[in-house]
Amino acid sequence: LISRAFRRQFIIPEFQEFCKNIEEIYWKCKDNTDGKVASYIPQLKRMSPNYWGISICTIDGQRFSVGDVAIPFTIQSCSKPLTYGIALDLLGADVVHQYVGQEPSGRNFNELILDHNKKPHNPMINAGAILICSLLKTLVGPEMTSAEKFDFTMNYFERLAGNEDMGFNNAVFLSERECADRNYALGFYMRENKCFPENSKFKECMDFYFQCCSLEVTCDQLSVIGATLANGGICPLTEEKVLKPESVRDVLSLMHSCGMYDYSGQFAFKVGVPTKSGVSGALLVVIPNVMGICLWSPPLDALGNSCRGVQFCEELIKKFNFHRY
Ligand code: DON
Repeated sequence: LISRAFRRQFIIPEFQEFCKNIEEIYWKCKDNTDGKVASYIPQLKRMSPNYWGISICTIDGQRFSVGDVAIPFTIQSCSKPLTYGIALDLLGADVVHQYVGQEPSGRNFNELILDHNKKPHNPMINAGAILICSLLKTLVGPEMTSAEKFDFTMNYFERLAGNEDMGFNNAVFLSERECADRNYALGFYMRENKCFPENSKFKECMDFYFQCCSLEVTCDQLSVIGATLANGGICPLTEEKVLKPESVRDVLSLMHSCGMYDYSGQFAFKVGVPTKSGVSGALLVVIPNVMGICLWSPPLDALGNSCRGVQFCEELIKKFNFHRY
């Protein structure tokens, strides 16, 4: 890092100047009071609508953050690209995509539908993510207990985040499981259609999905995860190769086309960088070969994306043309 600094070889050479612009957009978006905090479980409903944080980590480890960047929140659907990436790495894309498609569903993230092959449309929606969790539970280290599989997966998430300890919110986990009629319905519908791998245990797979959603991260940590994805699977802070570049390519492709619920097409058009949102108000933004950004603000728009987060992305692209095309 230091020798690059002397040679001024950073991917964003004028980083301080860049960050000043980010901070300006931060304050602009702070005034946005649109949207509603998720209310389907009490633990999310209690989140202050005023929380707003931005963290950035570049592929060469330059970091910047502003606002509420050290407050833990549950990772929720931002876990979906990560469990998908782990499954790709350990099982290979051919095996994984025997079970799940690559097509946007064009419907809500929890809609009770399968594609014309009777598979979930993609790993970024609930059905696909539940299926991915069943692959990780059943086909990867089948001898592991549920506790071991949880530790194993959390350890992956932590390594993606630069080896920083992560939390687990047990109250969210219990509430998620309690208020999961739709997710169970999706699970049963997939079981009826023989979507799951042989020998998978239904209840354990569903629990594992809820556990992955209930892992707790901060904005800072999620930005490092984004940077690891931007850097082809090598964490810029530890230099550990956590995921293979081909797995990361697949993850980013589907984040690009399916990561923003039923706003994914418009988002890909307007903003044009792979992003995944979660119901806790997080946006995991990956600018390949440049940086990871985490945006976190609980109020959500009608489609379930963080209002301030989406506004930030649109403003960012107006100012800096990170759009892939
Ligand atoms: O499955 C659920 O309903 C939540 N625990 C995850 C929700 C979420 O972030 C929506 N994702 N696509």
